Amino acid sequence: MPASGGRPDPARAGRDLEELRLASIDGVDHCTVHCLCLYCCFEPGWTADRIQGRDEMAAVWRKLVRFAGKPLPDQVMTLKAKLRAAPRNIPYISEYFEDRCKARLFGGLAPLVPAVKDMFDGEPGLKVFKANGDEFLRVCRDIYGLRPDENVLDVGCGIGRKTLPLTQYLTRTASYEGIDVARAGIEWCRKRITPRFPNFRFQHIDVHNRHYNPNGKYSAAAYKFPFKDEHFDFVVLWSVFTHMMPDGIGNYLSEIRRVLKHGGRCLITYFFVNDESTRLISGGKSSLNFRYGAGEYRVLSSSIPERAIAIDERLITDFYRKAGLQPTNIYYGSWCGRQKSLSYQDHVLATKE
Ligand SMILES: C[S@@+](CC[C@H](N)C(=O)[O-])C[C@H]1O[C@@H](n2cnc3c(N)ncnc32)[C@H](O)[C@@H]1O
Repeated sequence: MPASGGRPDPARAGRDLEELRLASIDGVDHCTVHCLCLYCCFEPGWTADRIQGRDEMAAVWRKLVRFAGKPLPDQVMTLKAKLRAAPRNIPYISEYFEDRCKARLFGGLAPLVPAVKDMFDGEPGLKVFKANGDEFLRVCRDIYGLRPDENVLDVGCGIGRKTLPLTQYLTRTASYEGIDVARAGIEWCRKRITPRFPNFRFQHIDVHNRHYNPNGKYSAAAYKFPFKDEHFDFVVLWSVFTHMMPDGIGNYLSEIRRVLKHGGRCLITYFFVNDESTRLISGGKSSLNFRYGAGEYRVLSSSIPERAIAIDERLITDFYRKAGLQPTNIYYGSWCGRQKSLSYQDHVLATKE
């Protein structure tokens, strides 16, 4: 067993890595040796991605045994024993494994995928990152009619979870602007995505949010988007108003209207408080227990409301009316325990006439 509870020793991990690199085992390439050693280090309780990796490692193990046609070479056994004794969270092991998984899932886009530990914008994990992005593109294209040549504004783009599939869909004549209050995500996207897809641009906006940008300078209730009037065909806020207070939402809807062209659409996701969701929450069916608050909104955490906010549907309907946006499609989500749903969150597609 790894030295459980022992503190990781980077120097020792580095030495082990070097030994692995230098190990020359007849007929077994270094990559396989790495895989084998990774396998040795897997522990119960890792994430789904890693458990899948564990299967993969098991396959490598079997291959290696077959390859050798006899018990594993002593050298491998020694390395295995060493790694078992090493601290379990040797950074290169998880990085190495993640890189392999990324390449398999994302192919040539793998370098544009952040490390799992940096995925602050949703559930961390490579498979879920991919599945979320794929769902987003499918829904935008097939349900809401996003066309490949449109100008898209993604408010609260996070670390590019939903951007990546768009790089494969939007043409060069289209444009994509991503803005977010979380600087780290914007920096990652600027560094990784824009150089390869110059029509994809990202800006940090220093708007206050207790969860994502506690030191932000500007209030969401008064913030003006850094874009000229009537520039975009499609504005999306996916899982963003679920982290904002009502006064910010009201102002953002007016800003969305301002930057949309006539005939443009906005797709926004919510957790709506309405009769049905209230009943399901009270019946213990909801995946999120919005236990605090009443009236305009309900929250999961009383100290940091922006962790997740469910908002009164009638209030939002009123905001759309005041902003001059016409909702055309509403799909209620499965978050509160509904059986048949398009997606997890509630969706509203609206147009500017
Ligand atoms: C749950 S994440 C969703 C990210 C992305 N839209 C996605 O679906 O993958 C919420 C995002 O909204 C951003 N956000 C929160 N308040 C914001 C605001 N007032 N303006 C712009 N972005 C905001 C957060 O920084 C975070 O990246």
